[in-house]
Amino acid sequence: MASKPSLFLSFCFFVVVSVPSFVFAANANSYPLRVGRNGEFKILQVADMHYADGKTTPCQDVLPKQVIGCSDLNTTAFVERMIQAEKPHLIVFTGDNIFGLDATEATKSLNAAFAAAISSKIPWAAVLGNHDQESTLSRGGVMKHIVGMKRTLSQLNPPPPAHLIDGFGNYNLEVGGVEGSRLQNKSLLNLYFLDSGDYSTVPSVLGYGWIKPSQQLWFQRTSEKLQRTYKNKPEAQKAAAPGLAYFHIPLPEFESFDSSNFTGVRQEGISSASVNSGFFTTMVAAGDVKAVFTGHDHLNDFCGELTGINLCYGGGFGYHAYGKAGWARRARVVVATLEKTKKEGWGAVKSIRTWKRLDDQHLTTIDAQVLWSKSSAGKPLLMV
Ligand SMILES: *[C@@H]1O[C@H](CO)[C@@H](O)[C@H](O)[C@H]1NC(C)=O
Ligand SMILES: *[C@@H]1O[C@H](CO)[C@@H](O)[C@H](O)[C@H]1NC(C)=O
Ligand SMILES: *[C@@H]1O[C@H](CO)[C@@H](O)[C@H](O)[C@H]1NC(C)=O
Repeated sequence: MASKPSLFLSFCFFVVVSVPSFVFAANANSYPLRVGRNGEFKILQVADMHYADGKTTPCQDVLPKQVIGCSDLNTTAFVERMIQAEKPHLIVFTGDNIFGLDATEATKSLNAAFAAAISSKIPWAAVLGNHDQESTLSRGGVMKHIVGMKRTLSQLNPPPPAHLIDGFGNYNLEVGGVEGSRLQNKSLLNLYFLDSGDYSTVPSVLGYGWIKPSQQLWFQRTSEKLQRTYKNKPEAQKAAAPGLAYFHIPLPEFESFDSSNFTGVRQEGISSASVNSGFFTTMVAAGDVKAVFTGHDHLNDFCGELTGINLCYGGGFGYHAYGKAGWARRARVVVATLEKTKKEGWGAVKSIRTWKRLDDQHLTTIDAQVLWSKSSAGKPLLMV
């Protein structure tokens, strides 16, 4: 892809057309996602399903006694069990949804991969990994297919003028306040989805792709707009609403931790791009994003905090993805909880917590931790 002209174009659009915020905003009062009546919003992250052809596609890296009778259908069963156990408000698929090289027909594979989410009737969103385009559809083709599927909130890219952006599947979703509460017309939690690319197309740079300046500019503009709206009347809020970012390839900053300062495990290297395109710095400067969730490295499942942002892996989910025999496939859950007072009812997000579940008999919960809380913002976090 010729990134220079598109970059240049998107830059011009941003600069020339200084658009009032209402042009971008969907009808602010009709949120497709809202905090539940219990004051919680729960997200299930499914990383690296690596779906191929279904029951004829074998499992990788399972114990010898688990090989027979193991296929993509075990990945489907795990999605179903997680949905049943957690009843999330949103399911987010963070890329390598299908393993294109082994998927005979991309549309069939995508349909099968997301079938469990669709039949659960829970809204879902997806981004692309580096393997999704390796079957019969291009990256754009895969994302277009996903956007057309039932019950998805995935989008191809932002609406004009920001649509001239690198990659496919850059979009944001707002989570409205509890219906009927005083903050029902505000987005209390902002979700950002980005296409972290597949492989470098710059001959002198080897390895994986990265989040490009055009995407960062879109993120920056979107974050600014959301923060402005949140702080506007009525019910003007003082601090920004917390944000969460979901994409596939970890940032180079995931290297910042060791077992003394992360929760979870690191069992393989951090396969980020070999260059740093600065997205971490862009997020720190924007100030609203409290946690980032990626996949890509199936044997890493940690969260570590750097400069106020938690960098988290989802942990390998799919059975046709590489893994480690005897080390259970897993999924990450995130919950944002609102504060509540007698006088004013539901308020802003008070805390963001996470845990993982293992695909064992009891879907064992591990590594529960607080990622962010309003009272400790800016101070070092205490583990719970
Ligand atoms: C895969 O699913 C089959 C059928 O339910 C089950 O018998 C088997 O134990 C599962 N394998 C793994 C590794 O979970
Ligand atoms: C939210 O917006 C709707 C529709 O515009 C309006 O009827 C309602 O009064 C607003 N509620 C609050 C609490 O701001
Ligand atoms: C984590 O601890 C290691 C030393 O064990 C240190 O080098 C590193 O800077 C720490 N990382 C963060 C983000 O605090």
